[in-house]
Amino acid sequence: MPLVSTRDLLLDAKRGGYAVAAFNIENMEMAQIVIQTATELRSPVIIQTTPGTVNYAGLDMLRAMVAVEAAKTDIPVAMHLDHGDSYERCIAAIGANYTSVMIDGSKLPYEENVTLTKSVVDAAAKQDIDVEGELGTLGGKEDTHEVKAGAEIYTDPAQAKDFAEKTGVHSLAVAVGTAHGFYKGEPKLDFDRLKKIIELVNIPIVLHGASGLPDEAVSRSVKLGVCKVNFATELRVAMTKGVREVLQDESVYDPKVYMKLGKKYVAETVKHKIIVCGCNGKA
Ligand code: 13P
Repeated sequence: MPLVSTRDLLLDAKRGGYAVAAFNIENMEMAQIVIQTATELRSPVIIQTTPGTVNYAGLDMLRAMVAVEAAKTDIPVAMHLDHGDSYERCIAAIGANYTSVMIDGSKLPYEENVTLTKSVVDAAAKQDIDVEGELGTLGGKEDTHEVKAGAEIYTDPAQAKDFAEKTGVHSLAVAVGTAHGFYKGEPKLDFDRLKKIIELVNIPIVLHGASGLPDEAVSRSVKLGVCKVNFATELRVAMTKGVREVLQDESVYDPKVYMKLGKKYVAETVKHKIIVCGCNGKA
């Protein structure tokens, strides 16, 4: 079916007590396998691309690949710009018919984050497109987006409420102890803070940096009311592991051949994450 509104997916998740798994893709093979796996599990799914991926393949190409694969299935598929790094980037994604965008003003002083985020919300409203904001700073590296160790700032619940009200964002990414990329030790989430944020803020809350997070931490966050969980690094690792293994055999030279095992590993990862988020059987 055609791509669906991200808003509907997140509000259904909020009502239903599960989270929609959101997967970052880098290429056609990943778009195909994520949507095919979600179809097998009868799960709604959000496909995301970062600015780094957009610079690599282009918004129109990425949107077209995802739309073609979504047209073959009857599960709802939404397409989201992850970590939009400027007003212009978000406007371009809206122009390319993404179904939602994130504006990440989390590194800015609070008032500047509010102003930037509100400007994107106002522009997106003209096309009825949803906007995800971010408040607080996650550690780690997500493609071109990096926060050095020690620069993390956990989201303040009262400020999150104020942010949601002042900006009108439709969903909010929060910092409660997760990090993008690989974890150095066992991540410890501040569940009390997360609970408080969810009680105070009346819009879907998003958990970033879920690669490497223990399953119990993800499912506990979902039980508390998180509605969207982002996975990127583990998919990249799965794809690359498969390609690397196949290319040990130097007689292999065809991308159609050496992508296959990577796709299988990505499918296994996606399946696992969908089940942890509880969105299997929700489509
Ligand atoms: P990971 O790379 O840690 O899975 O984080 C994904 C993410 O939050 C994308 O925005």
